[in-house]
Amino acid sequence: MLSCKDLTKQYNGITVVDHLTFQIKKGEVFALLGTNGAGKTTTIKMILELVEKNGGQIEKYGEYTIGYSPETPYFPPFLTAREVLSYYGRIQGLDKRDLKKDIATLLQLVGLEDNRTKVKVYSKGMLQRLALAQALLGDPMLLLLDEPTAGLDALGRVEMIELIGKLKSQGKTIIINSHILNDMERVCDGGIIIKKGKILYTWEKNADHHGKSLEEIFVETVKN
Ligand SMILES: Nc1ncnc2c1ncn2[C@@H]1O[C@H](COP(=O)(O)OP(=O)(O)O)[C@@H](O)[C@H]1O
Ligand SMILES: [Mg+2]
Repeated sequence: MLSCKDLTKQYNGITVVDHLTFQIKKGEVFALLGTNGAGKTTTIKMILELVEKNGGQIEKYGEYTIGYSPETPYFPPFLTAREVLSYYGRIQGLDKRDLKKDIATLLQLVGLEDNRTKVKVYSKGMLQRLALAQALLGDPMLLLLDEPTAGLDALGRVEMIELIGKLKSQGKTIIINSHILNDMERVCDGGIIIKKGKILYTWEKNADHHGKSLEEIFVETVKN
């Protein structure tokens, strides 16, 4: 569905994404793993064309739309969840009547259907869930989720991962980056561990990991 070849980005002469090559198949959940500053967000933003790449190719196979949930979601503080989705949906040019129905479904999916409070009093978990609902507007085939579990408590994390599993079972293709490696191991089909913008390890769920968990592999890979 998507292929990146030698994807490269420099900021102020420093290479922060360094010849990344990877492919994502339709229906797959793919993990971008790495410690802070590894280049995960920059990679996601290059796929979205929010950041211009300095080298390499990104190939999208077929016509599809992309949904994006950013690392630090921000929404107009005086709107409710419903109003936020309506606002973003209209910006996207979605049909008004469909939108109303879609918003009801999305709010229910992320557990915000009964919420009439304004976004400014939302907890981190509620913001993350609203960001996911916003990413799902227009029913995109590919989802890019930048740290959707960041700042969530244990229950919030479980709920978010369950939601992602549900989206996978609906056939969505998902690129996700998270530090909760146990969760990533469960929900992802594959992924890459990057450090200073370089791939150090390519992980596949069904490969033989010699009894090592993804977390163990991650620590061994990035610590040197
Ligand atoms: N707009 C920018 N200008 C300069 N440096 C940046 C910019 N965005 C990110 N960086 C740098 O690029 C590196 C990778 O950042 P990022 O992709 O956000 O990493 P991650 O998401 O893996 O934590 C970091 O060293 C960061 O400081
Ligand atoms: Mg990031």
